[in-house]
Amino acid sequence: MQANAIIETIDLAKDYIDGGNVIHALKGASIKVYQGEMVAIMGPSGSGKSTLLYVLGLLQPPTSGAYLFKGQDILQYSREDQANFRNKELGFVFQSCDLLPNSTVFENMELPLVYAESDRRQRRKKILDALERVGLSHRVDHWSNRLSGGERQRAAIARALVNNPSLILGDEPTGQLDQKNTEIVVEQLRAIAGQGFTVVLVTHEEDIGQACDRIIRIRDGAVVSEGLENGYVPAVLRSESSENRSAAR
Ligand SMILES: Nc1ncnc2c1ncn2[C@@H]1O[C@H](COP(=O)(O)OP(=O)(O)OP(=O)(O)O)[C@@H](O)[C@H]1O
Ligand SMILES: [Mg+2]
Repeated sequence: MQANAIIETIDLAKDYIDGGNVIHALKGASIKVYQGEMVAIMGPSGSGKSTLLYVLGLLQPPTSGAYLFKGQDILQYSREDQANFRNKELGFVFQSCDLLPNSTVFENMELPLVYAESDRRQRRKKILDALERVGLSHRVDHWSNRLSGGERQRAAIARALVNNPSLILGDEPTGQLDQKNTEIVVEQLRAIAGQGFTVVLVTHEEDIGQACDRIIRIRDGAVVSEGLENGYVPAVLRSESSENRSAAR
């Protein structure tokens, strides 16, 4: 059986114009990511990792190329439809975690829900569910600036999860954490990927790449390895075959 990709990019190119110079940040990047995978994007500084992630997050339009999400050509959507799509399907975790400092964890997490969920009690339930996933439900009413760095980044992950998106995108989400908190955050992203979310994260750290299902390596704006070699089986097929196995028992 063949797995369907949740994401497929075909020949993405992105040029930036910088004071009369053209910078070719992406030069025909084609990748596939399958449902339920945790995938790292790695490569040297300036190789186009963040650019690729921003294109995947519909935060920047590519100069050319196609981007299919569950088979839909989403670059052809209107701006408004892209914004709706982003709110519904995508969750973001960035390096400098951008929680509002003078608000509680609850208030921070309520923001992305205000449009999606009108019932306040339902909002609280969804927020507690997302916090539970990262082991932080006891911090729901804490001021976000009183959380530790690791807790803050976990709250940022919970916030990315609160709308139940299909895809979590992270740009060096552990970039400002120490070793121990990095491990906790990676473990939690790992657990989330196992629960049906798909995770794509940019990282410099080989250890984090190794903790992922596979590594997409890019260099100078092009994909040099997708990590699909050597008989790699996407997570979605692995879980199906284990379900089949247990059904056969
Ligand atoms: N807004 C921009 N305007 C002009 N050039 C840009 C812009 N953003 C990125 N670039 C250039 O595009 C190239 C790719 O940048 P990008 O940020 O995607 O790299 P990266 O792989 O994420 O690097 P790093 O590991 O340092 O974060 C670089 O040469 C960068 O200088
Ligand atoms: Mg970057």
